[in-house]
Amino acid sequence: MSQIILVLNGPNLNMLGLREPAVYGHETLADVEAMAVQSGQELGLSIECRQTNHEGQMIDWIHQARQRVAGIVINPGAWTHTSIAIHDALIACEVPVLEVHISNVHRREEFRHHSFVSKVAVGVIAGFGTHGYKLAISHFAKLLNAKPAI
Ligand code: DQA
Repeated sequence: MSQIILVLNGPNLNMLGLREPAVYGHETLADVEAMAVQSGQELGLSIECRQTNHEGQMIDWIHQARQRVAGIVINPGAWTHTSIAIHDALIACEVPVLEVHISNVHRREEFRHHSFVSKVAVGVIAGFGTHGYKLAISHFAKLLNAKPAI
């Protein structure tokens, strides 16, 4: 059985493709999730994708990931900048975390410069567009030394 990587997207990311395309691009969330699954297949990882606009739901998924998944790729959306609860859930879960932002949050508004998630993440990818998800998955493959599917 290949190891599971959970790809979590937070609020408003269901609007990808429609939402501020100049900032977030034209790809939809379905496109991003399909690309993530495909990358996982190539790298020998099993990818599970979820998105929610409800913080409690996100926290429940993070808790359920404990001792079940090998890694979490998370784009917490605006909760990045506000949520101590997601920060605490990620610590409680004890699974390595890679934080992804489609945009370069550091060249945007001041309120996007602080992340509660970065403190508990192995690494942060920002400003690489949706390619950032693929970069995060391939980094997990390296970290976990997964064997590519034949
Ligand atoms: C985002 C950046 C956040 O500041 C914003 O609230 C988002 C998306 C990104 O992917 O660039 O919803 O996480």
